[in-house]
Amino acid sequence: MTDTIGFCQETRPDNCGFVLFGATGDLAGKKILPALFGLCQKKLAPHNFYILLIARTALTRPELESRLTGLLARAGLSAEGDCLADFLGRVEYLRADYTSVDFYRGLAARLDELDAKHGVSKKRLFYLAIPPAAFGTVTDGIRDAGLLADPGDCTCWSRLIIEKPYGASLERACAVDAGLKQGADESQIYRIDHFTGKETVQNVLALRSANSVFDETWNSRCIDHVQITVFEALGLEGRTGFFENLGLARDMMSHLLQLAAITAMDLPASFRDTDFKAEKLRFFGSIPARERAAAAACAVRAQYEGYRREPGVAAGSAAETFIAFRFFVDNDRWRGVPFYVRAGKKTGAKRTKISLVYKKPEHGVFHGTDIGYPNVFTFNIHPEEDMTFSLIAKHPGPKLCFVPRTMRLGYREHAEEAAAPTDYERLLIEAMAGDQTLFLSVFEMQFMWEFLSPLLAAWQADPGGGSLYTYPEGSDGPAQAAALIEKDGRAWL
Ligand code: BG6
Repeated sequence: MTDTIGFCQETRPDNCGFVLFGATGDLAGKKILPALFGLCQKKLAPHNFYILLIARTALTRPELESRLTGLLARAGLSAEGDCLADFLGRVEYLRADYTSVDFYRGLAARLDELDAKHGVSKKRLFYLAIPPAAFGTVTDGIRDAGLLADPGDCTCWSRLIIEKPYGASLERACAVDAGLKQGADESQIYRIDHFTGKETVQNVLALRSANSVFDETWNSRCIDHVQITVFEALGLEGRTGFFENLGLARDMMSHLLQLAAITAMDLPASFRDTDFKAEKLRFFGSIPARERAAAAACAVRAQYEGYRREPGVAAGSAAETFIAFRFFVDNDRWRGVPFYVRAGKKTGAKRTKISLVYKKPEHGVFHGTDIGYPNVFTFNIHPEEDMTFSLIAKHPGPKLCFVPRTMRLGYREHAEEAAAPTDYERLLIEAMAGDQTLFLSVFEMQFMWEFLSPLLAAWQADPGGGSLYTYPEGSDGPAQAAALIEKDGRAWL
């Protein structure tokens, strides 16, 4: 057991009912239901807690249970014994007809019954794991059934969790948001980006705030550039329709910008919601807006070679599965420091990492010799969870020559640390506790689209044309992505 020091904050979830719309969908099966099970298994769920699954499919109880055990097994969770019985004992299913008033009336009655059965007093978390186009219908339905009333005290509450990309364009996202606001207040809306809930991502801020040696150097005086990589071995995983309509830029941009913000924003006065969001917004506000030609000149998009042969993909599809781009931040901390970001599907082994590359040494002994960038601080988020710092040291021996070395800090080295909540588990706890800190404000959602829109417009003007490159599966993307950084005299790590 390791002893913690100083500041220690714990978020406790409130007793509640968790209502999952879209319960038979891909997101529910891969992320949300495993996270709900994980909360029960790790004893992190509230004491009085139930889960109402909602979807359009008709399911008998045995079908529901076999579906749940199947998806938990596929998620690699050992779902058996008391844990499984406890989880299943909290789960109920309701078949939906999202457009029927009667359905919402029935839902209200069912929630009252479940509240009574599980000792919950009208505290409800509605998770909309459904396409953004359906958000308005469902929120109107639950509002009209009186289920969104939130008196702002803690005797009862109603909250909505929604998933990115919240729409397919800035206009659609704003329209979806306006639709949600007809039924709910901003304080009830939790826009989830699960990257903010990742343990190592949280550690970026913890490390910066607790160790002044790092944050003091986290600026243009010491840092040459920043790199962010989110590579996945996986391809479409049955999400052809989603990809064909949206492409990787819309799918991943929110994650990429959150990683950049958490790495580079000024440290907030506290980790409380308002302070944290205000600093994050100031960081986004320091990224200059660009016209579409300027945005496209600093970006590369590509498709993996076999993409158009995937079942369900159009022969001439222009959906990108890879992006790389460069941007600058115009504030005192970062002026002149480029941020290089790339993300891709089928780009070899899964790799998610953030690297701060320090300037080259200027000492006279290195005059005339390029030893590259010896100091790189890296947060590895996947698959390793560690931090590394590379440096150069004297080679042991009689001569004075130098060797590269890497210091590594493994992140979870004790058994109890391995039981930490996963990204979705953590964010569900925060939502049940009513803490919006790790969720995106409407301004962040808008900024994401404002950043992305000029790029999308440039690409749309040239669909499938010369600006859509290809790359072999398992590679680091197209040669043009390498050229994007190499033309600045740098290289991807
Ligand atoms: C999701 C994207 O939000 O994040 C997926 O829709 C992507 O396309 C996934 O695969 C990556 O998340 P993680 O946590 O597995 O790295």
